[in-house]
Amino acid sequence: MTTAFSDEAMEKEYEMNETIQTIRNLRTVHGDFSDRSIPEEQLQTILDCAIRAANASGRQSYSIIEVTDRERMQELCGYQGDRLLVFCVDFTRIIDVAAQLGHEYSISDVVSFVTGSTDTILAAQTACIAAKSLGIDSLFTNGIHRGDMSRVWDILALPEENCFPLIALVLGYPRVEPAFLKGRLSGVGVIHHETYRRLSEDEREAVIAEYDEPERHLSLGVDWAGQGMEHYLDWFYTKWSRKADTAPFCELLRRTGFLPGAR
Ligand SMILES: Cc1cc2nc3c(=O)[nH]c(=O)nc-3n(C[C@H](O)[C@H](O)[C@H](O)COP(=O)(O)O)c2cc1C
Repeated sequence: MTTAFSDEAMEKEYEMNETIQTIRNLRTVHGDFSDRSIPEEQLQTILDCAIRAANASGRQSYSIIEVTDRERMQELCGYQGDRLLVFCVDFTRIIDVAAQLGHEYSISDVVSFVTGSTDTILAAQTACIAAKSLGIDSLFTNGIHRGDMSRVWDILALPEENCFPLIALVLGYPRVEPAFLKGRLSGVGVIHHETYRRLSEDEREAVIAEYDEPERHLSLGVDWAGQGMEHYLDWFYTKWSRKADTAPFCELLRRTGFLPGAR
C-alpha cells in the first residue's frame, strides 16, 4: 500500500517537483542559439531571481552587464545568443557609497576576490536556473578571459579598479535540440560523507571507466580512440590540458586591486 509518507509516495512527490526537474534538465547550448527573442518581462524575471541569491554581508559584490548586440557579444566572449549577461565581481558601488558618507572602505585583497566571486557565481547560477524554468537555455563561458582581456573593460566601460569580469552567461533558445544530456560523476570522490576520503586505486579505475562509457556522456565528445588513445582521459590530459599562460590574468587581478603589487 502506498501511504502519504511511504518511500514510493515521497519519490513521486520528488519527481513532480518542478524545481528539481528544472535543475536536472540544465544543459549547455554550445553557441548554436536561434534568432528567437526572450520576452523582456522574462529577462527581467531572470535578473530579479539572480539578485535573490545569497551574498556576503549584504554587499551584493557583483554587477551584471546585459548585452543585446550580437556583434558585441561575439567580441566579448566568442559566442552569441539572444542576450549576454556578464557577471563581474564588483565592489565599486559599495566603495563609492562609502565615500559619499565620508567613510574609507577598501577591499583590495584576494579574500575579497574569493568572497566577491562567490556572490557573483551564486547570482549567475540562479539566473541560469531561472532562465531554464522559463524554457530559456544558456551557455556559461569564460571566453571573456581569452585573448586580450582589456577589451572587456573597453567594450563594457568597466571601472579600472575593484571590478573584474568573472563569467559570461549567454541566454537564448537552441537552434537544434541537443541530442543528449551530459552526465556527471556522482559517486565516491565527488560527494564525501563526514570526512574527506581520497579515491582508492580501484575507485580511480572506475572513474577512468566512467569517462570512457559513451552512454554516460562525460567526455568532451572527441574521438579519442580514433586518435590512438586507450582512454578518454589520456586524450584529456595530453591533448586538451595545456599549461595556460596565467600572467595576463594575474596582471589584471593586480591592476584591479585584488592581488598585491603595483597598480
Ligand atoms: C566556467 C565555465 C566555462 C565554460 N566555458 C565554455 C565555453 O567557452 N564554451 C562552451 O562551449 N562551453 C563552456 N562551458 C560549458 C561546459 O562545457 C558545460 O557545462 C559542460 O560541458 C557540461 O555540459 P552541460 O552543461 O550541458 O551539462 C563552460 C562552463 C563553465 C562552468
